[in-house]
Amino acid sequence: MDLRPALLAEAAATAPDATSKNAAAVHAAKAVVADGIDKTYPDGTHALQPVHLEVTEGEFVTLLGPSGCGKSTLLKMVAGLLEMDGGTLRLWGAPPAELKASGRRLAFVFQSPTLMPWADVRANVRLPLELAGVAAAEADRRVDEALALVGLSKFASALPNMLSGGMQMRASIARSLVVHPQLLLMDEPFGALDEFTRHKLDSELLELWRSQGLTVIFVTHSISEAVFLSQRVVMMAARPGRITDDVVIDEPYPRTREFLVTARFAAYAKRLQDSLHRASGGHGLADDEAGDEISGATAVAAAQGAGA
Ligand SMILES: Nc1ncnc2c1ncn2[C@@H]1O[C@H](COP(=O)(O)OP(=O)(O)OP(=O)(O)O)[C@@H](O)[C@H]1O
Ligand SMILES: [Mg+2]
Repeated sequence: MDLRPALLAEAAATAPDATSKNAAAVHAAKAVVADGIDKTYPDGTHALQPVHLEVTEGEFVTLLGPSGCGKSTLLKMVAGLLEMDGGTLRLWGAPPAELKASGRRLAFVFQSPTLMPWADVRANVRLPLELAGVAAAEADRRVDEALALVGLSKFASALPNMLSGGMQMRASIARSLVVHPQLLLMDEPFGALDEFTRHKLDSELLELWRSQGLTVIFVTHSISEAVFLSQRVVMMAARPGRITDDVVIDEPYPRTREFLVTARFAAYAKRLQDSLHRASGGHGLADDEAGDEISGATAVAAAQGAGA
C-alpha cells in the first residue's frame, strides 16, 4: 500500500505556519541588509535582478535554488568579492568598507577547500593571519583554537593530499574561523562530499554556529540539507536570478538525525520541493533530486510509524 499521500497530508497538517516570521527576531540587529542589489556580467548575462535580503544577527539562512539562479553571485556580492551594479549593501548597518573598522569580520567558504597543496594544515589555516600581520604567538594560539574547533588538532602537520575530502573541508572551515568572523558565507561547502560525511559536517557546522555565535548564509542544492540546517530558507529562481520564496524552519536546536525522519521534516521538504518546482519552471534535476529525498524521508517515517 502506498502510504505517501496519507503521510504527506498528515505532514502538511502538522507543519507549522512556514511563512510566519519569528516576531522576536524583528528587533534583533540586522547583520546583512542587501537592498535592491543586482548584477549583469560583462558578457551581458543578467545574473541577478534587484533582490532584497535581510539576515538577522545570529541567524542561519540558506539560499536554495536551481543551478544558475544567482546564489553564488548574491553571496559573492555580500562578501565584497564581486561588484554590485546597483542597490545598497549594509553589514551591521554600515557600508561593507566600514566592517573592519567596527571590529567585525566576514569569512567565505568555497565548495572546493582551496588549500595550498605544498603547505601543511597548520600553514594553510595560518595564512589569513599572516596576511593580516597578526603576531606569531597570537597566530599560533588562534590556529590551535581553530584546529581544535574542527577536530583537526592531530593533523596540523599533514599535507592536504593526506586528508580525506571531509577533513580538507574541515581545514578550509578552520582557515575561515581563524579570523574570528561574525558572518560566515558558505557556497555549497559540502556539495562534493558523500552523504554520510556531509551530514556529519552539517551537524558539526550547527555546533560551531551555536558555540561561536555566528551569522551564517549557506548555499546548497539540497532540500534536506537546507531543512536540517536552517532557521530560514530563501528560494531563488533563474533567468534572471531572483528571490521567490522565504520559508521559516521553526524547529528547535540541536537538530539530530531523528529530525530527518519526522513528519514535520517531510512537510518542510514538501513545501520547499513545491517551491523549487515553481522556481525551476516545473522541471529540472534539482527537482528530481528533491523528489527522491522526500520519498526517502517519508519512507523512513512510514517505516517508523508501522513499527510503533
Ligand atoms: N563570471 C561570469 N561571467 C558571465 N556569466 C556568469 C559569470 N558567473 C556566473 N555567470 C552566470 O550568471 C548566472 C548566475 O550564476 P551563479 O553562479 O550565481 O548561479 P548559482 O545559483 O550559484 O549556480 P550553481 O547552483 O550552478 O552554482 C548563470 O547564468 C551563470 O552562468
Ligand atoms: Mg553557485
